[in-house]
Amino acid sequence: MTSRPLVQATPGDIAAAARRVMARCDELARVSAAPGRIERVYLSPEHARVNRLAAEWMRELGMRTWQDAAGNQVGRLGAAEKPALLLGSHLDTVLDAGRYDGIVGVLMALEVVRLLRVPTGDGWTCGLPFALEVVAFSDEEGTRFGKALLGSSAVAGSWDDAWWALQDADGVSLRQAFLEFGLDPGRIDEAARRPGEVVGYLEAHIEQGPELDRAAEPLAVVSSIASARRFQVVVEGEARHAGGTPYDMRHDALLGASEAALAVERLCSAEHHVIGTVGRFEAFPGAVNVIPGEVRFSLDLRGEFDGERDRVWLALARDLDEIMGRRGLRWSAREVHSAPAVFCAPLLQDVVAAGIRSTLPPRSEAPPVIFSRAGHDGMALGAITDVGMLFLRNPGGISHHPDEGVSTGDVAHGIRALAESVLQIAAEPR
Ligand code: GLV
Ligand code: MN
Ligand code: MN
Repeated sequence: MTSRPLVQATPGDIAAAARRVMARCDELARVSAAPGRIERVYLSPEHARVNRLAAEWMRELGMRTWQDAAGNQVGRLGAAEKPALLLGSHLDTVLDAGRYDGIVGVLMALEVVRLLRVPTGDGWTCGLPFALEVVAFSDEEGTRFGKALLGSSAVAGSWDDAWWALQDADGVSLRQAFLEFGLDPGRIDEAARRPGEVVGYLEAHIEQGPELDRAAEPLAVVSSIASARRFQVVVEGEARHAGGTPYDMRHDALLGASEAALAVERLCSAEHHVIGTVGRFEAFPGAVNVIPGEVRFSLDLRGEFDGERDRVWLALARDLDEIMGRRGLRWSAREVHSAPAVFCAPLLQDVVAAGIRSTLPPRSEAPPVIFSRAGHDGMALGAITDVGMLFLRNPGGISHHPDEGVSTGDVAHGIRALAESVLQIAAEPR
């Protein structure tokens, strides 16, 4: 690691890059399935539109572009035979999303390419010992099919054929959605990268909590990404007349499921760094005068370490047995997503720290290092390559919500830090 900053760009170049990122975040926010809010899910017409826009911006930089077999949009600069350093994040969103989660990381990566590319006479190259690729991942959130990280799992070569049968809320299977989008499920393996083709993966992302804002710090090094499991839980009871059924004859699935949701909060808050959320909760038949006979709810469970997360799930399963047994209900759970915690590579943590140091006024303490409670594409890519992440301050710490934010000034610092990280990797003996 050199202590001398390597990025030559002027403050004016960086400020212009940050303004372009913010303007493009606004432009992408207008590509939505729902008027007045942001909604862009995997394999939707909006997914196709943002891929087309990203591809145009990549080509403007002189990159070769393609949409891979999982619908990820990729741009590459550099000789075909070189391994690539991957930079990126995702362009899909949750429902009623903010405009920066994922998106800002893709757009910052494009600005890093703009800062580091060198003219060749008839085009551009990146002039580094590796090629640079920007990957706009297609499905990080799992909004449509429940399973997160579909785009990056394909790139990591860890696609599971069982996923083809996953269905969206309208009963459309993942396989059918691929075909309707114009992708061939039989070619999914072509999206996979082999470890030798990839130097590493670097991602900039807004923090999705308040730590940096509270510490008045614009940027942080990410140490690891939380492990995650997601379940669809079904509680079955008996739908009966709301007026005619006395309490001692009721088997109310909603009350059992409500107790279950409270148990999630109780068990998770008793553990260090485990957090659980019941985000979707539906009662059937859903009539005002019928006792709910069935409830389906989602459970999202995360932990800094896989073992703690799994311990909470086992304790919860015991509590559910007790709650449902006491109320004469039955319950079952289907696991729809599981990803182990991923630790950012020590070398990439060091280069990101060097990147942050290069852009902020000199100071004695090292930049903050934080663990990500949110999931990221690096969780899948960790299976094939080293992962490094840079977090940007999010004023108020709000995310997965329209009020999600980041400042142009912090994006400018982030772009310089990310570009510097790339040059620091290039300067390392290989
Ligand atoms: C994605 O943002 C997640 O953490 O669920
Ligand atoms: Mn998200
Ligand atoms: Mn994200």
